[in-house]
Order: sequence, then C-alpha cells, then structure tokens
Amino acid sequence: MRLINLCKGYLDNAATSRYKPQCVISAVKKELKQSSNPGRGAHKGSIGSAQKIEECRFEVCELTGMPYAVFTKSCTEAINLAVMGMNLSGEVITTVFEHNSILRTLKRLEAQGKIDLRIIRPSGFAVTAKDIRPYLSAKASLLAISEMSNVTGARHEIEEISAAAKEKGIPVLLDCAQSLGHTEADYKDVDMIAASGHKGLYGPQGVGFLAFREIKFKPLICGGTGTDSFNLMQPESYPEGFESGTQNTPCIAGLCEAIKWTRKNKQKIAQKIKYLSARMVEGLKSLNGVKLYYENENGVVSFNVRDIPSGEAANILDAEFGIAVRSGLHCAPLAHRFLGTEKQGAVRASVGWGNRENDIDLLLEGIEYILKNPK
Ligand code: ALA
Repeated sequence: MRLINLCKGYLDNAATSRYKPQCVISAVKKELKQSSNPGRGAHKGSIGSAQKIEECRFEVCELTGMPYAVFTKSCTEAINLAVMGMNLSGEVITTVFEHNSILRTLKRLEAQGKIDLRIIRPSGFAVTAKDIRPYLSAKASLLAISEMSNVTGARHEIEEISAAAKEKGIPVLLDCAQSLGHTEADYKDVDMIAASGHKGLYGPQGVGFLAFREIKFKPLICGGTGTDSFNLMQPESYPEGFESGTQNTPCIAGLCEAIKWTRKNKQKIAQKIKYLSARMVEGLKSLNGVKLYYENENGVVSFNVRDIPSGEAANILDAEFGIAVRSGLHCAPLAHRFLGTEKQGAVRASVGWGNRENDIDLLLEGIEYILKNPK
C-alpha cells in the first residue's frame, strides 16, 4: 500500500508539488525507455539524450534570463556549487530567513576561516534594500538570499536588493527554491539563480540547476566529463566540467517539459495560488486560537494552533483528515528564532496548481477539530 494515496488534502507543495503535468510524466517515461548516456558516446541514443539535456538547458536560460546553466541534483547542490566554487573571502552577507542550504554552506566557510559571515536580521518579514544596504561594504564578496522564505511565505524585495548590491559590485546568489514558477520577478541584477525542479516548476525530484551570467566558480565535483580524458585535472570547460558523472537524463527531460508547461500556464497558476492562499489566510484568521505568522498570497502559510507542538497538530491533520502539511523547523532554524517558534516549530500549509478549494476547507475543518478537542 502506498501511504501517499491516503492524503486527501495535499498541502505540502513547498516541499514537493504533488501535481505533475501529463507532459512531464510522459517525458520522464519516454527518456527512461530510450535513454543512453549523454555525452559518453557517438551513437544516436547518446546524442539524443545529450540533445534533450541541451534543450532543457535552453529552457532554464529562457526562464531565468541567464545565459548559462548547469544541472545539479537539487537546489541545495546548486547553492553549494556557487558558494564552494567561488573562492570567497572577506564578508558574505545573508539573512536569518535562509534555508540551511545557504546557512550551513556559509557556516562551513566561516568555520574554515575563509569568510566573515554577516547574518542580517531584518526589521520585518520581507527583507528590504534598506535592511541590506548598511552591509554592502567594499569587503563583501557575495550576497546570498532567497527570493521567498520557505517558512513565512514572505517575498523579499529582490529587485531593489539586487540593484543595490550591483551598484556596489557585489555578486548576488538568489535561492529561488520556493519562488520560481510561482512568482513574477525581474532578475536583471541577479548574478546566479539556484532552484530545484520539483516545487513551483512541477517537475520531478532529483534535478535542480544553477543559472548564471558569468562563470565565477570552479566545479564542485571532479570526475568524468566525456571530454579531455587524458587531463587528470578537472576540466573547467562549460558545461561539462561542471556536470561530472552521468546526468539524471529522465528527470531533466521531465524538467524540460515542466518549464515549458509552467511558462505557458504562468498566469493561470499565479491566479490560483493567489486565490487559494487568500482563502486559506482568511479561514485561518477566522479561527480563534490560531496564530498566523505572515499573511500573504504567495502559497506558503505558517501558523500554530494554540500552544500545541506543530508536529502533533500536523499528525492529527494527517491521521484524522488525510491532510499533508509540513511541521517543525523547515530546515530554516533562524527564521523560527525570528518568529519565536524554536520550540514549537510551525505548521506550514502550502498550495500548488493541483489544489482545489475543498483542500483548504478540509484543512480548516481539521484545525477546528483540533481546537474543539483539546488533549
Ligand atoms: N526545503 C523544502 C521545504 O521547505 C524541502 O520543505
């Protein structure tokens, strides 16, 4: 029995979107049946798989407005590639709202004595250029920030922040794990974008990417590239030098279709996310005993039910109502410190294209049940 089928109301799209368009499923299946090793042979199968990867690379570049992109297994790996590969020194700026994919990677460099880490605690939920400006010094070598918090759903002032960093010549690495596909943004002053395929882009798990304007980093992983094989030093040629090892071609084929589908349906998706978020926020606000942390229409909403541990509330929602949410710290500990929820964590409900009004109503029903049935 697959437990996944027991979920009636899937509201954990910020972790992985449940809905996958049919074109994505078909592309993964087709590539699984046909795939050969891309870039490792001169036969038609190998060339076909390599062409599929290049088609997806083109789609990533079109989507992000960046001239280059390399594939990784996740957004986390893409962030590691940028941060570890840049030979950073001096100050690196980030914020309390970041995921551990940024925080732990930067903390490692700090522990190695390579960088001075500046973790900004902004005045509000949405980080503004005003919050960041005082830290944009001549010593800064990188600003690493997310477009949207995976805990609060707040979208930061990315356009203004990246413009301010650009003015000072500080490269910006943007973590778009929660935003890409669900928000509309201008990335013209952003230098690098890290994202995964399995959230707002409605692609498969196991593939992410780093898109960028200039190659400012070295490869993270050494190994076979299918090229220059007598060179025992890792080639730094783009893209193969950055993609050692056999690529996840079936999932990249799926991502390719997912990006095309998401771009085609962009407006419809945005409207739905906004509508369902507003319904959820209004519903949560009407329940006495629910603490909602940040009202927004971006699809990610965190709350608590009285002082019940968030994991306990999530378990009841799952066991009694078949609702999937994510509780705890969401791998973003400093965001929870900001909220004052280090101990309780928070219940996070996140919507996607596959949701309907009744998923929201079921969530609200489940919370009412918890409120009326104290332990
Ligand atoms: N980073 C993902 C989340 O926020 C998994 O749930």
